[in-house]
Order: sequence, then C-alpha cells, then structure tokens
Amino acid sequence: MKRRSFIGSTFAGAIGLTTGSSVLPLSSLAAPNNRVVLGLIGCGGRGRDVLSGITRENENVEVKYYCDVNETLKGIQEDIAKHSQRQKSKPVFVNDMRKVFDDREVDAVVIATPEHWHVLAGIWALQAGKHVYVEKNPTLSIWEGQKLIEATKRYNKVVQIGFQNRSAPYAFSARDYIRSGKLGKVVHVKCYNMLSGGKWTPAPDAEVPRGLNWDAWQGPAKAVPYNPGRHSMTGRGGWLDFWSYGGGALSDDASHVMDLARLALGDPSHPKSVYCSGGNIAFNSQKETPEFLNITYDFGDYAMTCESGNFQPYMTKKPQEVRFSDKFPYWPQMATKIEIYGTERLMYLGRHGGGWQVVEKDGKVVDQFYGYFPDKYHFKDFIDSIRQNRTPNGEVTQGHLSASLVHLADIAYRTGNRHLFFDAATEKFTNYPEANQYLKGHYRGIYTIPEKP
Ligand SMILES: NC(=O)c1ccc[n+]([C@@H]2O[C@H](COP(=O)([O-])OP(=O)(O)OC[C@H]3O[C@@H](n4cnc5c(N)ncnc54)[C@H](O)[C@@H]3O)[C@@H](O)[C@H]2O)c1
Repeated sequence: MKRRSFIGSTFAGAIGLTTGSSVLPLSSLAAPNNRVVLGLIGCGGRGRDVLSGITRENENVEVKYYCDVNETLKGIQEDIAKHSQRQKSKPVFVNDMRKVFDDREVDAVVIATPEHWHVLAGIWALQAGKHVYVEKNPTLSIWEGQKLIEATKRYNKVVQIGFQNRSAPYAFSARDYIRSGKLGKVVHVKCYNMLSGGKWTPAPDAEVPRGLNWDAWQGPAKAVPYNPGRHSMTGRGGWLDFWSYGGGALSDDASHVMDLARLALGDPSHPKSVYCSGGNIAFNSQKETPEFLNITYDFGDYAMTCESGNFQPYMTKKPQEVRFSDKFPYWPQMATKIEIYGTERLMYLGRHGGGWQVVEKDGKVVDQFYGYFPDKYHFKDFIDSIRQNRTPNGEVTQGHLSASLVHLADIAYRTGNRHLFFDAATEKFTNYPEANQYLKGHYRGIYTIPEKP
C-alpha cells in the first residue's frame, strides 16, 4: 500500500488545516483566574465519560455538581472522590438540575440525559447564563433545533453538541480533500450504521423503583406508568426504542455517521426530499422505532443514503486497536462508515477514528489519512471555546442540520415510508401536510419548552 500526500501529516498540522471554529463575541468569559466550574446533568455512562475527559484534557477545570434523578447510580461517589483529590474541593450530588443552574459559580454544564431532555435543559442552562455541552442527538424534533439555535444566539454562550467527529483532524482533511476535486464530482454518498441487535420484547409496567424521580426523568414527555422496558436503574435501558425519548438507531450511532458525512461534504443545508423503506422486518419486534431503515436523501447535486439497523452480528464497530492507532479498518465489514463516490475515485471514511482512504480500480489506495478517536479534541475545544470567546466545533446550527436528517427519516418512516419533499427555508414538508405534525413534539406543564426561549 503506497502512502502519499496526506500520510505523515502530524496532528498539529492536521488541526491547522481548517477547523469549523470562528470567533464570536460572547457575553462573558469564565472566572478571571481562567478556572471553569462545571456541573454534570445526567450521570449515566456517557455523562461521566465526558466529564472525566474534559477534566483530563484541560487544566484548571473544577467539577462542582453531579446531578441525576436516579440517586442509586453506582460509581458516583468514587467519581466524586477522584475529583475531590484532583481539585481539592468536593463535588456535590443533587437530584434537581435547577440547583446547578441557580449556582452563580457554575460556568458551564454537560448535559448527558436521554434526548427528550436535551433542549429544555440546554435552554434552562442558557437562561441561567451557563455555557453548554449537550450530547447527541441534540434535539427530539426540528422545532427543538430551531429553539436551541434561537436560545444560543439570544444568550450568546458557547453551545457545543456532542458530535465529536467535528473535532477530528481527519474529518477536516477529508473535507479539504473532497473540496480539492481529487474524487471528481461527488455523485453518491453512502452512510452505514449496521450494528448488531436482537428481538425487542415488551415488559409489563411496574412500581417506580426507590431512588428514582420518574416524573422528572420523563420531564417534557407524556407521563406514563413506570416501565422497565423504557428505563433501567443500572444502565442505559431501552428509552431509544420510544419516540417520546429518542429516535431509535438513527439518533444513536447513525446521527454521528451522517453528521460526519455532512462535515466532509462541506455542510450542506437540508436535503430536498427524504424517502425510506424498512421497519421491524428483521425480528418482527412490536416496538415503535424500526429495526432497519434504508434512507435516501436528495441533496440536489448528489444523493445520500443511510443504511441503519440493529440486526447483523457480522459487522463490527471500529475496534479499539483501530480507533487508537495508525491502522485502517477492514472496510467491507466496518459497521459505521461512509463511502463517498466521485466520478474519479471512491473515499472510505471512518467514524470515531479509522481515518480515510481513497481507492481507484482494483482497490488501489492512492491517498489516505490516519484517524484517531476524536473525543479528546472535542473536550479540549469546548473549554478552549469558553476561554477564547469563540464558536466551538460542533456548533448548534450544524448540530440542528445533522439532527434533522434523523428527524426527516424518522418522519418518513412514521408516515408510512413516504417520499417527503422538504422546504429548507420554511423547514416544512410541502407534499404531505400531515407529516408536519411531527415537526414539533408535545410538552408537559412546567417542562414545556417556551416558544420564545
Ligand atoms: N457522543 C457520543 O459518542 C455518545 C456516546 C454515548 C451516549 N451519547 C449520548 O449521551 C446521552 C446519555 O447517554 P447514556 O448512555 O449515558 O444514557 P443513560 O440513560 O445511561 O444516562 C442518562 C442519565 O440521565 C439521567 N437523567 C434523566 N433525566 C434527568 C434529569 N431530568 N436530570 C438529571 N438527570 C437525568 C438518567 O437518570 C441517567 O442516569 C444520550 O443522549 C446519548 O445518545 C453520546
């Protein structure tokens, strides 16, 4: 395999290529001594990973709060002890996020709740003057994306979406390579999210477990009896299978793949139309979200497809030795990847590390660039953005557009696998008005997202 142009570029060089950042005058900086005080909202596996990553990658960051509506989560006290040792002050566990927002010492929050809480928590945080890191998929609907953008502009704080590929050096080099025209004209972009999974079986309702505030967990979503199929006291549980809390496999890993594809393609606006086929056709599960979808987006200049499912045991997510080393994946059975077909060449692009390779006939590799798991760049960028008064990588408008690809396809599925035409200017469907009812969700009492955030 011959190494050419991009091979051997250092990370420093790669980061210097071009990033998504620009300078934005923000209303306030962190404390004068440059210390950034953080609170974590949602202390599941991801929230705690993000928090420890942010403290590892940045100096002078203090964790003040762990907040979760499940008071029985294992490992929190151990985490608190670790931070206490590192920072010489002890973080506090609270069960109501409003206590974190009310504390004027807190500069920024990490929101790693399930998806139905992302935008409401983000808006409350912004209203309280906090910078926000909010996990993917950032929104539950297209309307929520509009509200998050409005609030970000209004309160003028850093809002970073947990689409960490947006801080990956190899993502920017892929974009620059495509821009240079070396693939020829891009005609077709194929996104893959082909993961394993099994049959979904419903569970009966149960008593609310001790230590959980089920009303607060549901928050903006319609109130229903506690069900262990929706929620787990010890792990992530099945909330992604319900439209009230998430968008299925698409809003989980596929959102990362499509976000990376959009970045590599120069961040196009909404597609003109969306069409999908699929459903619960692998195991015939009686669940709300589909086991498999094959989606086609019409971007005018090119078509983009996304194949997303949870049924195949023979495809693999990027193994650790590929994510963290100078190795490329075995592309045919790589579960989460993008193939970009130009008139001259084909690019394979990995998600969460894996880099990219460009091939010609007979699989001859003509260009390539190594890629590493990008979390650490993203965590550094969040704190740097706060300190440097600038827009972060993974800013909110692109987050909204990437999240919208999930929502558009899920709406096409929920309206019976229709071919839906979408107007980017008004963000409405034009050929099937009934589909517009899915552009905004339903909210509940004090958990209602305001029309004017
Ligand atoms: N960027 C990535 O690579 C990546 C990876 C994994 C997960 N995620 C995202 O991170 C988020 C969290 O994922 P997870 O796997 O940790 O989920 P999880 O369900 O295990 O954890 C979510 C936590 O939020 C808590 N919570 C719910 N409502 C709350 C509220 N009102 N106040 C405080 N806490 C509340 C829950 O009790 C739970 O402990 C999801 O949106 C997920 O999609 C992103």
